[in-house]
Amino acid sequence: MKNRLINIKEEALNALSSVTDEKELNDLRVKYLGKKGVITLSLKRVGSLSSEERPEFGRQVNEVKKILEEGIKAKKDELKKKASLDEKKDFFDPTLPGERPARGTLHPITQVMDEVISIFTFMGFEVAEGPEIESDYYNFEALNIPKDHPARDMQDTFYITDDIVLRTHTSPVQIRTMEKESPPVRIIAPGKVYRCDSDISHTPMFHQVEGLFVDEGVSFAHLKGILKIFVHEVFGRDTALRFRPSFFPFTEPSAEVDVQCVICKGKGCRLCSNSGWLEILGAGMVDPEVFKSVNYDSEKWTGFAFGMGIERIAMLKYGIDDIRLFFENDLRFLKQF
Ligand code: DAH
Repeated sequence: MKNRLINIKEEALNALSSVTDEKELNDLRVKYLGKKGVITLSLKRVGSLSSEERPEFGRQVNEVKKILEEGIKAKKDELKKKASLDEKKDFFDPTLPGERPARGTLHPITQVMDEVISIFTFMGFEVAEGPEIESDYYNFEALNIPKDHPARDMQDTFYITDDIVLRTHTSPVQIRTMEKESPPVRIIAPGKVYRCDSDISHTPMFHQVEGLFVDEGVSFAHLKGILKIFVHEVFGRDTALRFRPSFFPFTEPSAEVDVQCVICKGKGCRLCSNSGWLEILGAGMVDPEVFKSVNYDSEKWTGFAFGMGIERIAMLKYGIDDIRLFFENDLRFLKQF
């Protein structure tokens, strides 16, 4: 008798655990607890037992009945809860805000490039372009860098053939523009350039902006004035700059332009090697030899030119210490701009 009761209990609880809807639950209730249910019938059998067995068996049946009743009630609540959740899932609330599509941003190099271009176009410069696959003539020869010139070693050139290279700088656009146009000329030439070099501050492809201004009476003072405005726009009006004598085959005299260190403001730190200054571009007065190669009369016309690396300016502007970050396309980096 007792074993049978335990079996009934196990069977009922098992069945209960696999119930999935109210109908199944009700059937189960009727089967065990209904008027002709298994448990109800068991209770009725109490009468046929001896008076010693009766109380204990009665107690056990009642206990199983209680367990089952509680189980059924819990299951009922569970089913109710699930039903109300399902109802909510299907509910469409048209007043909720929509999902925003992820929005991209311009690459930091594009942003700095655009900023540099807008500063110079505001000052009256026009944008000129030239090919990235360039002839030796435009990349070197016409810029007063003949074949055996040591200055060729300064640039780690990608040669395609003996006479065709990936341009190592944007300076050839100076020549192409002057060949097409007669003075006055006032252009900037933004674009990609290539050098066989790769480390924390060099990538095989990077961006430059070239500038060229040719007219009557153009002097070094004009160059200084224009670059001062440029530096103040990009790095802030309180940023000092200085011109250091240098050498480029296509300018004479030549200079390198430094800005006050963006980190230590001139006091000296690791970034500026304790000098307080950071180099940002090369510049100078157009060499008469360059005018000769484009048939400009260097007695009549003078001009200045400059060239800067956009990655370098972006690194200084945003405090980035590894140029390769610009080209890894890591969204965690790019999203910050
Ligand atoms: N082309 C030079 C370079 O890539 C930069 C440069 C220096 C350009 C002086 C100029 C200039 O126009 O006048 O290193």
